[in-house]
Amino acid sequence: MESAILAKCLLLGLVILWIQIHGNKGCFETERLALLDFKEFVGSNGLDVDYLLSSWVDNSTSDCCKWERVMCNSTTGHVTELSLNNTRQYDIESISFYDDENIGFKRLEELDISENRFNRNILLSLDAITSLKTLKFSYNDMEGSFPIQELSKLKNLESLDVSGNGFNSTLPFQELSTFKSLEILNLMGNEFTGSIPEYMWTPPSLKVLYLYHNKLNGSLPNQSLCGLKGLQELDLGYNEFGGSLPQCLDNLTSLTFLYLSGNQLTGHIPSSWPANLKF
Ligand SMILES: *[C@@H]1O[C@H](CO)[C@@H](O)[C@H](O)[C@H]1NC(C)=O
Ligand SMILES: *[C@@H]1O[C@H](CO)[C@@H](O)[C@H](O)[C@H]1NC(C)=O
Ligand SMILES: *[C@@H]1O[C@H](CO)[C@@H](O)[C@H](O)[C@H]1NC(C)=O
Ligand SMILES: *[C@@H]1O[C@H](CO)[C@@H](O)[C@H](O)[C@H]1NC(C)=O
Ligand SMILES: *[C@@H]1O[C@H](CO)[C@@H](O)[C@H](O)[C@H]1NC(C)=O
Ligand SMILES: *[C@@H]1O[C@H](CO)[C@@H](O)[C@H](O)[C@H]1NC(C)=O
Ligand SMILES: *[C@@H]1O[C@H](CO)[C@@H](O)[C@H](O)[C@H]1NC(C)=O
Repeated sequence: MESAILAKCLLLGLVILWIQIHGNKGCFETERLALLDFKEFVGSNGLDVDYLLSSWVDNSTSDCCKWERVMCNSTTGHVTELSLNNTRQYDIESISFYDDENIGFKRLEELDISENRFNRNILLSLDAITSLKTLKFSYNDMEGSFPIQELSKLKNLESLDVSGNGFNSTLPFQELSTFKSLEILNLMGNEFTGSIPEYMWTPPSLKVLYLYHNKLNGSLPNQSLCGLKGLQELDLGYNEFGGSLPQCLDNLTSLTFLYLSGNQLTGHIPSSWPANLKF
């Protein structure tokens, strides 16, 4: 009898404690503060943040999971998706370095920071978000070499989009193959140079590879591309590839999209290939 009452009291206590921790807010305090910190950073670059992120208010009763551009997992209450794309709205020179060493989200899975004017330094603050699966930073002001060091800890990446920047180095093919879960790699619209090596390099799980509109050259490797058995979409268009088409492409049985225009490739397409393939 007494132990039943005790159990009820304990249960009530736990419920009250749970409500105090996140019941009335719905979002975690650390994540709420990290979002406000990001808003302040964007504002410090001269942008009208109250217009851009008007629901992001510094009010402890405001549930950050209900803010615009924020998605939480309804079970855990953690922020899992952030759409911080196109926060510049009007033209500014560049959004300068976000120097928060820890962006503060431990369960973030999708981050979109495309269409801003971020330079590559923003990537340094993503280091600790090892839960990231999707990362988009297309159409920013990034240049120089592929940011392999900045991304090296994000081993759970499934989709990476760096299109429309000014990267102008060779590609770190070997390092890229350490991203074992990578399925989508979009490098379109940069100035990457060099050739695709003959040895096996890409992540084994790769399904989509977009290299469209870069400055890649040399002939297409006979072996390594064809080792990507799961490849569904391959866009090599508008580069400087030459030489003959590797006949082993015939072995990529999952391929539904292939774009090769804008190169100096020769050779024939196997007649057995499906008609929906685009060249
Ligand atoms: C905080 O938000 C609540 C509910 O959204 C509102 O009623 C309250 O006035 C706000 N407090 C401040 C200080 O803005
Ligand atoms: C929310 O998180 C739980 C626990 O980590 C997970 O099992 C569930 O799949 C997540 N829900 C969504 C919609 O991602
Ligand atoms: C951000 O990207 C999403 C998905 O592509 C899009 O629906 C949304 O309109 C974009 N937001 C802004 C402000 O451009
Ligand atoms: C790459 O771009 C940077 C910055 O624009 C420039 O300084 C550098 O010379 C370029 N490197 C090459 C190899 O073109
Ligand atoms: C590819 O381009 C580089 C310069 O970016 C050049 O040094 C190299 O010789 C070219 N290779 C081929 C095979 O054309
Ligand atoms: C691929 O094989 C063809 C024919 O065997 C050869 O002419 C070509 O040089 C090879 N390409 C490479 C990149 O090794
Ligand atoms: C293509 O597949 C055939 C049959 O599985 C195999 O014998 C051949 O070695 C493969 N070619 C390449 C270049 O992988």
